[in-house]
Amino acid sequence: MNPATGRKTLFLGDWKGFTGVSWARDKQIGLLLMEHNDRFDQLEPFWKDIQGWAVAETFHVWRYLLRKQREFSLSGHSMEIGSFMGKCSSILAADIDLYRKERLILIDPNIRTQELRSAHGLAGLDSDEAISFYEISSQRISKEELSLKRGDVRWIHIDGEHTGSAVSNDLDIAHELTMDGGIVVLDDFFSVAYPQITFSAVRYLDRYPDRFVPLLIAYGKLYLSRPKPAFWLKQHIAIQLAPELEKAGYTCTLCKTTHSEDLDCLSIKPGGFYQGIMGPDWSDSTIELARSFNMQQLHELADKANKVL
Ligand SMILES: C[S@@+](CC[C@H](N)C(=O)[O-])C[C@H]1O[C@@H](n2cnc3c(N)ncnc32)[C@H](O)[C@@H]1O
Repeated sequence: MNPATGRKTLFLGDWKGFTGVSWARDKQIGLLLMEHNDRFDQLEPFWKDIQGWAVAETFHVWRYLLRKQREFSLSGHSMEIGSFMGKCSSILAADIDLYRKERLILIDPNIRTQELRSAHGLAGLDSDEAISFYEISSQRISKEELSLKRGDVRWIHIDGEHTGSAVSNDLDIAHELTMDGGIVVLDDFFSVAYPQITFSAVRYLDRYPDRFVPLLIAYGKLYLSRPKPAFWLKQHIAIQLAPELEKAGYTCTLCKTTHSEDLDCLSIKPGGFYQGIMGPDWSDSTIELARSFNMQQLHELADKANKVL
């Protein structure tokens, strides 16, 4: 519902020239989402019992983004630096496609094989061939040791050593391996207990702006993508992720509180706010994302929007 007009439409407007696009949020946009994947459904009721720190909402954010990667026809390995008991890697396990020879790659100086096997088993991934354990610090591993090359990996979760230098080392690994369309997740972003993580990541992104761009900050994690697919992903996240979380029972607010030239990154905060979105102070029901459109693309977007409403 557009609060200004009372119309229940997704509107394209407020763009300056052709540099921005705005959405009024509507829950029915969630209808665009693809059908549920069985192995996620299988894992979900047991996931809360796996020891670890990720909150329940993260399960749904990952499930959503992993599905987006499939919509983008991505196939590749998934990886985690710092696997502990497998809470987060079990979500990745639910999405490993054995027919495409995808692997789950886990790096941790203390691999808890038994706990990890049982967590991945809950996600229906029992094949040892599909999981590679590296019992070593991420600061001591080489690409050769991993037998991977650039572009082999579609998802990396960085949750190992919580020092600034480890974060920049792990982002380097992510850069070495991630494909176009790949997603890199950094844990404990904005954590008061680990300020070095945030400072190190921001310094890294400033130093190498062509490597990764921020997509989303949600539930203590920063989500990065390669620059090329970033708009496509943000556009989908902006209209679909909050309804997806609400469908799963979590009230949240999608935030984009500044103009895109300032920072083009979405965030999700727990709890409700006016219409479920929080735009800039000067236009709080507007979500603006940077992108140039030609007329044809604008018409296609408007058609698509009208079809689902
Ligand atoms: C916060 S826990 C990870 C939690 C886990 N990702 C989950 O989903 O519950 C941090 C893990 O990082 C591992 N770790 C510590 N230093 C590391 C390093 N240099 N390289 C890789 N892993 C490391 C620890 O052994 C520990 O298992």
